[in-house]
Amino acid sequence: MEIKNSTFIVTGGSSGLGAATVEMVVAAGGNAIVADVSKPQGEALAAKLGKHARYVECDVTREDHGKAVVAAALKEFGSLHALVNCAGIAIGEKTVGKEGPHSLEKFAKVININLVGSFNMIRLAAEAMSLIDGDAAFIPLIYRNVTWAMRGNVKVNLAPNDILDLRFVNVE
Ligand SMILES: NC(=O)c1ccc[n+]([C@@H]2O[C@H](COP(=O)([O-])OP(=O)(O)OC[C@H]3O[C@@H](n4cnc5c(N)ncnc54)[C@H](O)[C@@H]3O)[C@@H](O)[C@H]2O)c1
Repeated sequence: MEIKNSTFIVTGGSSGLGAATVEMVVAAGGNAIVADVSKPQGEALAAKLGKHARYVECDVTREDHGKAVVAAALKEFGSLHALVNCAGIAIGEKTVGKEGPHSLEKFAKVININLVGSFNMIRLAAEAMSLIDGDAAFIPLIYRNVTWAMRGNVKVNLAPNDILDLRFVNVE
């Protein structure tokens, strides 16, 4: 898709892969909403990039935050063309370690942020993208993998670079 004049929501946009995506989008003439829980970093990045970037505080697991991010994209830039899900956390813990079995709570937290949070943002962004008049909007759906090892580390690495399939869905 054409990045110039398009508006992107980038979750996890305050840092790492997300911040690099935000910089790339703005450098290519697009607009970016930095949607992240990390406020100081996100605000600093948006301030550095100027009027084509905005920071909106967002926990991707929250419906109200997701809706506020989409609303900000529409208010600030008029429409929404793309969502890039980079928000995520990673943990490394043995399935059975010295302290006993892997924490179920930590596993569930990763699933909630990396997987449920991604879907939360996809569904809310898709609704806004479906309103675009004219050119079709494309939603990058990023499928992520969970590798489970019965012994040793549980690798819960639901991440953008674990892309199994990048599918563009026409929501025209
Ligand atoms: N960079 C790599 O080479 C690499 C390799 C493997 C996996 N990953 C995974 O990819 C994802 C992004 O990697 P990164 O290097 O950019 O990490 P990062 O830690 O630099 O950035 C992740 C961003 O997500 C944000 N975030 C965390 N929880 C959030 C939530 N609930 N709502 C909104 N934002 C939230 C953080 O504040 C942070 O800004 C992570 O899940 C990471 O584990 C990265």
